[in-house]
Amino acid sequence: MTRKILVTSALPYANGSIHLGHLVEYIQTDIWVRFQKMRGNTCHYVCADDTHGTPIMLRAEKEGITPEQLIARVWLEHYDDFRAFHVAFDNYGSTNSTETREFAEGIYRTLKAENLIDVRSIEQYYDPLKQMFLPDRFIKGECPKCGAKDQYGDNCESCGAAYAPTELKNPYSAVSGAKPELRNSDHYFFRLSSASCQQFLREWTRSGTLQAEAANKMQEWLGAEGENKLTDWDISRDAPYFGFEIPDAPGKYFYVWLDAPVGYMGSFKQLCKTKGIDFDGYWKLGSDAELYHFIGKDILYFHALFWPAMLQHSGFRTPTRLFAHGFLTVNGEKMSKSRGTFITARSYIDHVKNTEYLRYYYAAKLNGSMEDLDLNLDDFVARVNSDLIGKYINIASRSAGFISKRFDGKLANHALLAQCADTSGLSGKLVEDAPKQNLLQVLQDASAQITELYEARDYSRATRQVGALLDLINAYVDATKPWELAKDPSNVEWLQGVCSVALQAFRIITIYLKPVLPHLAQEVEKFLNVGELHWQDAQTLLPEQHGINPYRHLMARLDPRDIEAMVEANKESLQPAPAAISEQRHAEHQQHVAAAPVASHGIPPLGDATLPLRKVSGEIAPVAPTIGIEDFSKIDLRVARIVNAEHVEGADKLLKLTLDIGEPQPRTVFAGIKSAYDPERLRGRMTVMVANLAPRKMKFGMSEGMVLAASGETPGLFVLSPDAGAQPGMRIK
Ligand code: 2FM
Ligand code: ZN
Repeated sequence: MTRKILVTSALPYANGSIHLGHLVEYIQTDIWVRFQKMRGNTCHYVCADDTHGTPIMLRAEKEGITPEQLIARVWLEHYDDFRAFHVAFDNYGSTNSTETREFAEGIYRTLKAENLIDVRSIEQYYDPLKQMFLPDRFIKGECPKCGAKDQYGDNCESCGAAYAPTELKNPYSAVSGAKPELRNSDHYFFRLSSASCQQFLREWTRSGTLQAEAANKMQEWLGAEGENKLTDWDISRDAPYFGFEIPDAPGKYFYVWLDAPVGYMGSFKQLCKTKGIDFDGYWKLGSDAELYHFIGKDILYFHALFWPAMLQHSGFRTPTRLFAHGFLTVNGEKMSKSRGTFITARSYIDHVKNTEYLRYYYAAKLNGSMEDLDLNLDDFVARVNSDLIGKYINIASRSAGFISKRFDGKLANHALLAQCADTSGLSGKLVEDAPKQNLLQVLQDASAQITELYEARDYSRATRQVGALLDLINAYVDATKPWELAKDPSNVEWLQGVCSVALQAFRIITIYLKPVLPHLAQEVEKFLNVGELHWQDAQTLLPEQHGINPYRHLMARLDPRDIEAMVEANKESLQPAPAAISEQRHAEHQQHVAAAPVASHGIPPLGDATLPLRKVSGEIAPVAPTIGIEDFSKIDLRVARIVNAEHVEGADKLLKLTLDIGEPQPRTVFAGIKSAYDPERLRGRMTVMVANLAPRKMKFGMSEGMVLAASGETPGLFVLSPDAGAQPGMRIK
């Protein structure tokens, strides 16, 4: 009986690139979906970009475009990346769609009618400058436990403490640098603490929908029987917010995590419209379809609590199972921009090109558990070359030439095949180990176990199983030695038989690997001159006298230098990147800021006194000799937020500034502005810095740039500020 299956992968946010970490999930899901389709099941695979929320809104603003423009651009990038990795969604949508909006509103209205929505006033930090409430991640300050500076509003990266943003000392808005104020606002809550939600979730957890590790986590969240550990879920955010406005609640928007999983429905609905599929047959209560969500273990909370509870109480079916996976590590460590191991999909495509290498490597490591997966780059090269090329592709390359040249591309008839596939007379350990004597039968009989392993998402054992079969086939070729047979004309029949066995075996293995290597399988189909291979085809053989096409090399070896180049290209330089040519051209049409830079570390400021000066009027200092735009554009000026300012012990003129220009680590700059500024007044404000000045070691530490300030004949020093709205890292041209 064919199954009806709907599969999803988590929706990637529409403000970042797809990287190799994301691909663990999409490749894992795609393999499973392809396997189900090859088995003849009806299986739909949908996904979408996750487009709403504050970060996307702010990112668009920073780029000077609308959120709609940003998400349209990112959608295309994501779509291209997935296609290059052969991740074949049946529909790739966006949560910012009519379909998702309608489902989100419908679910909300039903929950409200079921008395599962509460409205309560909550106190929250508000950025008076930006005029918006701040999500926890957009509030920074000193950790209440260890005092570390510039920690996020939810937890401290230095000591690991978790806290509420209101507990931070000296909080500031990471958006504008302003001191946030506490304000009240009405928020909408989904009553997860209700008896009905608690009871449902307890049952659902135990009904086999989760992996054992995930079910244990759920027990922790739910607490012991009778204990009510779940709290209500805040599903609203105040304007300005990029998302869907809540029905009958002007200025209130659905929190991004409310409509994100609804995006699964929205995307599927689009597919239903184009393909004439019955949506209700998959989503309504009593549906006989299976529904699976592949997710990372970090978003289990949303998928195992909020999502099923929402569905259950709004008339929809709940997921059949959640398949959670672990994170990607590279060379045994967290992906890192400085080590060059935070690798984007695009960069992999540009450097390595063949995306099936990675699909194969991930498959060889994925076991259906929540354990992390390590991409060891040396092992990656070794496995691709030894397993894929050395063991698999070589079977075809070792036998196809004889069939093409000696037998006009025709395979042996089946009687001869049966004779040649009989391994009982052959020596060689692996051949002797074969439990059955007919090699092709051995390969066919392995199908049941490989099927089970794919079904259980234990691709690592499935590929190991296939690897053992490949060893067997190679041992067969080694023992039968077609190249020796070819030397003696009396062996001609035997030669055709042996090479035909190898190619029939190659075809069966191709079927087993097709979910992992779909593009390669297509090339093999062309080479073998056959139609689309299905799972069941492993139980049959190519017909007698079947004609194959001449062999052309199917896959090149992976060159380790490509991996080295990729890692090098992903290493994030600690220095800001030089301005792109287009930016420099653009700069020619800009007005320049005229200001005297403050010498931050004792070196002469621009307009060096040793240069001849041209006096233009009695009131101002002489203007420095004329320079060309190329000279000016060498200076990389950036908007910087003064995250911290403090006195330096023993320094008369200097203040120590910590500046954020959007880099992973803030910069330290010693500036000679002590006479004019109390550090307190500087904290949180924006200024302008020279970001590409060579770092300089000073008595008090390393200074990594220079801030700009104006000064004249009269006393006073005036640090520059950009207009409101400028963000850390913006270039000044
Ligand atoms: O964690 C994330 O990347 C989210 N964008 C995943 C959303 S999955 C689903 F709920 F939409
Ligand atoms: Zn801390």
